[in-house]
Amino acid sequence: MPWTSTTEHSDADKSPAMSLLPELLLTVLFGAQASFTHPGIILPSKELLGDSELKAIIKRTQKGRDAREVLGFSPRIWEALTETLRAGNDQLTTNKYNLVPRVRDLVILARNLLATKERAQNYASDEGFEAEVRRLLDICIDKASKPIAPNIDKQTHETEMHIKGNYKKVMITTLQFLNNLMSQNETRKLHVWLHMFGTPAASAPPNPAVPAKSSQKPKGKSSQVNKPSPGSGVGIVGSSALGARHSHKETVAKCNFLSAGFNAKYYKPGFLTEVPRLLQPDEIQPLPMMLQNGVVPLEGTDHAMQAVRCKLMLAQGYGRSLLREILVFLGAWEVDEDDFCFRMMAQVTEAILLNGLIPYAYESFRDEKDIVTPAQSVLLKLLASVYRQPEAGRDHSTSSSSCSFGISTPSVLSESPTSPVTDFEEAFDPPPIIESSIPTFFVAVLRKQVIPSTIRIIKLQGAIREGKAKKESFELSLWDLDRIYEGLYQFFELLVLFSEDEEAKRVLISSDKGIVGDLVVFLRELDKAIPRWVASKSTPQPPSPSPSPPQEKETGKGGSGKALKVNEAYRVERPFDVYPNFKDGEGSRDESEGADDEEPNDDRGLSDPEEFTWPHMKRYLVMLLSGFSWQNKAVQDLVREKGGLQAVLNQCMIDDDNPCMSILLPYELGIKKVLIPYTDIREHAILCIRNLLENNPENQKVVKALEAIQAIPNEVLDRHGYEHYFDDAGRVQLRKTKGKGTSK
Ligand SMILES: *[C@@H]1O[C@H](CO)[C@@H](O)[C@H](O)[C@H]1NC(C)=O
Repeated sequence: MPWTSTTEHSDADKSPAMSLLPELLLTVLFGAQASFTHPGIILPSKELLGDSELKAIIKRTQKGRDAREVLGFSPRIWEALTETLRAGNDQLTTNKYNLVPRVRDLVILARNLLATKERAQNYASDEGFEAEVRRLLDICIDKASKPIAPNIDKQTHETEMHIKGNYKKVMITTLQFLNNLMSQNETRKLHVWLHMFGTPAASAPPNPAVPAKSSQKPKGKSSQVNKPSPGSGVGIVGSSALGARHSHKETVAKCNFLSAGFNAKYYKPGFLTEVPRLLQPDEIQPLPMMLQNGVVPLEGTDHAMQAVRCKLMLAQGYGRSLLREILVFLGAWEVDEDDFCFRMMAQVTEAILLNGLIPYAYESFRDEKDIVTPAQSVLLKLLASVYRQPEAGRDHSTSSSSCSFGISTPSVLSESPTSPVTDFEEAFDPPPIIESSIPTFFVAVLRKQVIPSTIRIIKLQGAIREGKAKKESFELSLWDLDRIYEGLYQFFELLVLFSEDEEAKRVLISSDKGIVGDLVVFLRELDKAIPRWVASKSTPQPPSPSPSPPQEKETGKGGSGKALKVNEAYRVERPFDVYPNFKDGEGSRDESEGADDEEPNDDRGLSDPEEFTWPHMKRYLVMLLSGFSWQNKAVQDLVREKGGLQAVLNQCMIDDDNPCMSILLPYELGIKKVLIPYTDIREHAILCIRNLLENNPENQKVVKALEAIQAIPNEVLDRHGYEHYFDDAGRVQLRKTKGKGTSK
């Protein structure tokens, strides 16, 4: 019995010579297989020995490349691994959940062996191990998503949770395996893609206007009467979508060519769609990583093939579903922008952008019942982070890459000839930031879908406040409003970015397709219907001086002129490999559970949805109008014609007794946002008014006339107290002139 004889040598140093390692592993695998196929045939004590022997071998493959090679390059090993895993899988389907850890060890071992790349990858695939891993993943998803029966006692419940937890761990390991399996082999990546998303030949060409999801819904009886037909809305603008459709054909052709030799065993496209619902942010990492490896034009990949897979992902319903689930996941967990998953998905978003498919993606995440769906909000957020310089994120690269999951740059990477990341900037062009089709598309979405629907809600709020409508007529819950608000917030973040780019700004302010008029109307309605909340009456807490509203300080660097700086650590294809500390996934769970108590428990008593105050929206509107009207007569006139002067002026009139106004409000829904000092909106409004009045006698006349009936703050008309200047980002700002400034 080999494993009995070596037990006293379980110490790695005294373990058998490298040349004997394959024989040892084969013996261990036969033992494991026997215990799978003939339960009870091996004494429990001997089974335990076998398990610990297997763990010792895993450790060696984690430490040494030679151990990985001597095992990974042996077809016999892969054959035995496959048979053992097959036997294990058979048992798992019959609920032998006590075997889960042993099965997982097999996959961990295989995952490590794949770090040797090509040859091991080929054996893993040819011997059928890869197919068994997909089958295993499917089993895990099935087991982990089974609801736990209600009314069971505590003990049973705990056991059930424990079992599910074990299945999830296996799930994570299988994802890592798949990631390593396809790493650096374009053909195999495509095979994995076809398994994940289906073969394109078998599916209909995409129809952007009617996403698969919404057409499934039987209740086509449109609750929103304003939509003439489900597919109308905002069509895909510009040539990008046509390009997408056209290249879909190419994609199909190319796929058919490359998918020769595709192993269709256990073929089940869409098998990953459920995964995001089952995992937590620290567990899901291999999934976004797989997408990144498959579609982002990374150093050392075939960029044309990455593009093909990107298109394939979006062309296939399963691909869109998986993307949507991951986006919803990021939103629901409030995954931070510095987080590994967020960054991976930002890169995927960038790839989608480079392939001209952002409008298509946005449209396909639409849903009848939401003005902006959660997936769309997250897409907007990711897009904004793509347009921003990720320099800020760079500083954190080390901390993030060493986060719980242990994706430290693995040692194997240095063995790869392509790994020294040089000339990176050349290899990867900056995104066509504001290639005008993107702002054009989103302006159209805002004008047709988002702003009108939101204004209807705001008008109803106003009517209820004035007693002209019944409270009961407001049908939205705080959750509904939260979704709409989050979407609007992300839209405005994006608009601010666009407004800092000359070309995009031209789109935004263009007289026929621009958005100025809509923004003015939006501000007017908000001003009319949403009263200012006076913080000092209920919350004594003063506004903490906000260090930097993120969109203001950081986006300044986002001008189109600069090349996108990327964090190189995230720009290489990495295998999951050998971690120094191989109990991955464990212990990380507790961290995420403590994160709940951050929600400020605000007792300002905002109990009713119809009292929702749309925090920050006025400020965004004023900021945008301010930038648009600067030295632009057409915009100045348009704001006046739409009745915007008074509305902007009203934002300067904040009562100084109540300086906290318009702050703190984001917390009412638990949305974590930076606090903004009240002076912010006020100064923006003053700057805005001055931009609106400059060299525009008609506008000046209107404001003078208003002055007769209401007090207008000194700064608005005082030409000497304030002056324009350009800040570091080249934007116009307002500041007090030295000496004769008005009191603040
Ligand atoms: C890449 O994968 C394909 C099958 O998916 C295989 O036939 C080919 O040999 C692999 N290439 C290398 C260099 O290993």
